[in-house]
Amino acid sequence: MISLSRRSLLKASLGTAGLAAVFGAGYGGASALGQPAAAPLSLRPRRIAGEIVAGQTTPDLMSYAEAGPPPVLRAVRGQPFAVRLDNALDEPTTVHWHGVRLPNAMDGVPVLTQPYVYPGDGFDYSFTPPDAGTFWYHPHCNTLTQMGHGLAGMLVVEDPADPVFDAEIPLVLRDFRLGGDGRFLPMFKPRDAARAGTYGTVRTANWQREPAQDAPAGGLVRLRLVAADVTRIYTLALEGARALVMAIDGNPLPEALPLTTLTIGPGQRLDLALLMPDREGAVATLRDLRGSQPKTVASFRAIGPSLKRALGDLKPLAANPLPDFDERGATTIPFALSATAETAPKETICGDIGYSFWAINKVAWSGDTETNSGPLAEMKLGRSYVFEIANPTPNSHPLHLHGMVFRVLSSSAGPVPPLVSDTYLMAPDERIRLGLVADNPGNWVFHCHVIEHQKTGMTTYVTVT
Ligand code: C2O
Ligand code: CU
Repeated sequence: MISLSRRSLLKASLGTAGLAAVFGAGYGGASALGQPAAAPLSLRPRRIAGEIVAGQTTPDLMSYAEAGPPPVLRAVRGQPFAVRLDNALDEPTTVHWHGVRLPNAMDGVPVLTQPYVYPGDGFDYSFTPPDAGTFWYHPHCNTLTQMGHGLAGMLVVEDPADPVFDAEIPLVLRDFRLGGDGRFLPMFKPRDAARAGTYGTVRTANWQREPAQDAPAGGLVRLRLVAADVTRIYTLALEGARALVMAIDGNPLPEALPLTTLTIGPGQRLDLALLMPDREGAVATLRDLRGSQPKTVASFRAIGPSLKRALGDLKPLAANPLPDFDERGATTIPFALSATAETAPKETICGDIGYSFWAINKVAWSGDTETNSGPLAEMKLGRSYVFEIANPTPNSHPLHLHGMVFRVLSSSAGPVPPLVSDTYLMAPDERIRLGLVADNPGNWVFHCHVIEHQKTGMTTYVTVT
C-alpha cells in the first residue's frame, strides 16, 4: 500500500463531503524561532518536568525547549539555515533533519556522519534546504528513549511563493508510555518489539491530549502534521469540514486531492488545506480510524464571521526540484526485510536495546559503531537506481531513506499515485519499486522508522560516491 493509502488517494472522489477535519493545537507562538540566515538558532536538549496528563507531573520528559514541546523551527527554501546544538542531557545525542536533502556531514547519524555529541558538548548544523515543505528533526542516538521522552519537533521550510492561508496549525503526533502515576513506563516490551512495536499509553498532538484549537470560520487553514511517534500508524479522517491533501512527506501532490482517509506511519508528514465550517462554533475533528474505535487526534472550532473562502481559492504548492530519473538506465538493487536476524547487536554508546529481531537482506544492523555491518549498496553519483523491496513479514514497516528522495514506481498491492517521498509505509507481504537518482554523495542510512525495529536490526546504509 502507498504511504498514504493508495486506495483513498485513487478513489478520492469529490463526493466525500462527509469527511472533513478540524485541527487545533497549541504550538502557537513557539514558531518564532526561525529567522533564516541570521544567527544560528539554539537547540538545547534537556530533561524537563511537564504535565502530559492533567493533574500529574511527568518528571522525565526531554525537550529542546525550557518548558513544553520542542519548538517548530522555520527555514526558507534556498536560504542558509543554521542551528547550534548544545547537549544539556546526561547522555550523548545528535540531531537528524528528517526528509531534508542536505550534505552528509549534517545528517546527524552518529559515527557514520558525525561524532557523538556528549553531555556538555555541542555541534553546529548548517545547510540550505532545497525543498519547501513539512519536515522534522529528532535525535539519531538512543532514539527510542530520547524520541519516546519527547525529542521530536517540526521543521517547516517555507517557499516565499506559498499560497496564503488564514491560519497555520502544526500538529506533531506522538504517544507517551506513561503509567497511572504519570511516570514513564519501560520504553518497550521485547515481545512487542518483535511484532508491530510497543505502543504508548497516552496519545497526544503537540504534547496535548485531543487539543482543541480555534480558527477563523470559513477560513482556509494549513494543517501541517508529522507522525512523530516511535510506533503508531494512523488512518486519518476529518469530520465536520472538508480538506485537501496538498503534500505528502514534504512533497506536493501534482494535484491536491480531497481527504477521505489516509494512512501514515512513523516519520511521515501531511500538509492539508482545511476549509473551516462557516458557522461560528461549529467544530471539525481529525480522527484516527485505525484500531477498534476511532480516536480524536485534534479538533478545530470555527470562530468569528465566516471568511467565505473556498478550497478552489488555493493555488497549488510549487513542486520541489527533482533530478531526472532514468528508469531504463537504472540499476536494480534488491532489499528483503526479514525477522530472521543472524547477528546480535553490539553494545554501543547510542543505546542498542539489547535484542536482534529484524534484518535487511539477512543482515541485522550491528549498531552505530566503527565496525558496523557495512553498506548494502554502493551507488554511483548521478546514476539512477531502482530499490526493489520485499516485505514478507507480517508487520508494516515505514522505510526511511536519508539524504535523497525517491519516486514510488509500483507496488504489488496495485496502482500507485505519483508520490515522491523519503518514507514509504510497506504493508505486510507488499513488494515495491522505488526509483531514485543517487544525487547526494555520502553514507545514507536506510531503516525502518518503527524505532524498535530500527534498533533491533532493521537498519542499513547505502553509499553514494
Ligand atoms: Cu527520522 Cu533515520 O530518521
Ligand atoms: Cu519496521
